[in-house]
Amino acid sequence: MIINELNKNKKVYIETYGCQMNLSDSEIVSAVLTDAGCNMVQNPESADVILLNTCSVRENAELTINKRLLNLNSINKKGEKIIGILGCMAERLRERIFEQNHSVSLIVGPDEYRRLPEILGLAFDGEKGIAVKLSRQETYDDISPLRVDGKSAWISVMRGCNNFCSYCIVPFARGRERSRSSETIYNEIIRLENSNYKEITLLGQNVNSYLCPVTGIDFPDLLAVCAVTATNIRFRFVTSHPKDMSDKLINTIAKYSNVCKHIHLPVQSGSDAVLSRMNRIYSSAQYLELIRKIRNQMPEIAISTDIIAGFPGETEEDHLLTIKLMNEVNFDGAFMFKYSPRENTTAFKFDDDVSDEIKLRRLNEIIHLQNSLSAAKNRSEHGIVHNVLVECPSKRNHLEWQGRSDTNKTVIFPNFSGFYKTGDLVQIKIERSSSATMFGTPVNTITDSKNSN
Ligand code: SAH
Ligand code: SF4
Ligand code: F3S
Repeated sequence: MIINELNKNKKVYIETYGCQMNLSDSEIVSAVLTDAGCNMVQNPESADVILLNTCSVRENAELTINKRLLNLNSINKKGEKIIGILGCMAERLRERIFEQNHSVSLIVGPDEYRRLPEILGLAFDGEKGIAVKLSRQETYDDISPLRVDGKSAWISVMRGCNNFCSYCIVPFARGRERSRSSETIYNEIIRLENSNYKEITLLGQNVNSYLCPVTGIDFPDLLAVCAVTATNIRFRFVTSHPKDMSDKLINTIAKYSNVCKHIHLPVQSGSDAVLSRMNRIYSSAQYLELIRKIRNQMPEIAISTDIIAGFPGETEEDHLLTIKLMNEVNFDGAFMFKYSPRENTTAFKFDDDVSDEIKLRRLNEIIHLQNSLSAAKNRSEHGIVHNVLVECPSKRNHLEWQGRSDTNKTVIFPNFSGFYKTGDLVQIKIERSSSATMFGTPVNTITDSKNSN
């Protein structure tokens, strides 16, 4: 009671780092704090409370946040603002953050956001507060996220990860897998459709291992019910693990025109020896077979991936196998990273024997290759018409707007008279492209995404 009084009308600013799950979590945090009487604000200068929702996946992610903390000192010279760390760094580093950053007075992990008002109340009372217990149940399914974008929404359908890939901190930062009841997901989807949302991305660290704790339905069934429940919405999902990319899921994606034709399917490496040390539990041949099955049913589908360069023990031959696999799959896009050792993971005990120089050289080689694959892929789409969900004016030129194709590519098009608005679904004929972007001209506006393929 007293604590809630302390939070009343306090201005809170959140800055989010890391993956889409963190962006979605920040909306949950905003809902929890607004409910407790706080007001969310859009800049740190005007805020009483500055929260950083953090990522730990690679060392660089944490370095960026530490730099930001130092930089925040300049707008908090008198120390009158409360500075808090949320998310994966909060979970991984816990009290160590207090020791290293004296300006921080609040540390809250990803499963403890319901306790934020209480911890924030403590901080306003001059005490440092920490809540970092991981949960086997928490899914925040009864909290209506406070969304900022009115057209495209995320829904976290499962949280956590049981896979323990040997390099990855996520199972430690996010805890064990747990899924939300399907009914609460359908209800949220209906609410979003009634509020005129046009796109929903179903989120999970391992989204295709979703299993409803009440009805036992699996991810393909969930996706199918979503697609028929909200026919004016197009659905995406991230991130899928190859082990759960079943025939049933492939059939479901193919069957519904409002399920976007894009799959993000991280491969990590093209070498079986490396994949085995990564504990990825598939071989490169199995991955290629999966791609063959997907493209067999949906030749037009876009496939993107994640790749790690310079994993411990990666030889030049292993690296060449990754290059070979990239060429064979011909990915539409890829997120590529230099291996970063993470404390407590299995790979942390491996000899990190690939020098930084070689890691960087291999990373540059795969980035270079992917850029040319993406450029050629995009060139092959000149003349094709894509269904594009309009997002916002393009950064380069305000007479042009940008949107996203069903296949998750950025498309730029002229919008001279402001005819097209955010949330319109427009058919755009692609005329030119770079490796990252396609450019085209509108040929039609679709009002109902049922006809979107
Ligand atoms: N759950 C997702 C993504 C997890 S993190 C999945 O399994 O696909 C996103 C990506 O970061 C991973 O796919 C991996 O490519 C990369 N990554 C994770 N840990 C890393 C590390 N220690 N070093 C470098 N890249 C890493
Ligand atoms: Fe990390 Fe692997 Fe889980 Fe993805 S599947 S979050 S890479 S442990
Ligand atoms: Fe980063 Fe945590 Fe997401 S480590 S990638 S914010 S799950």
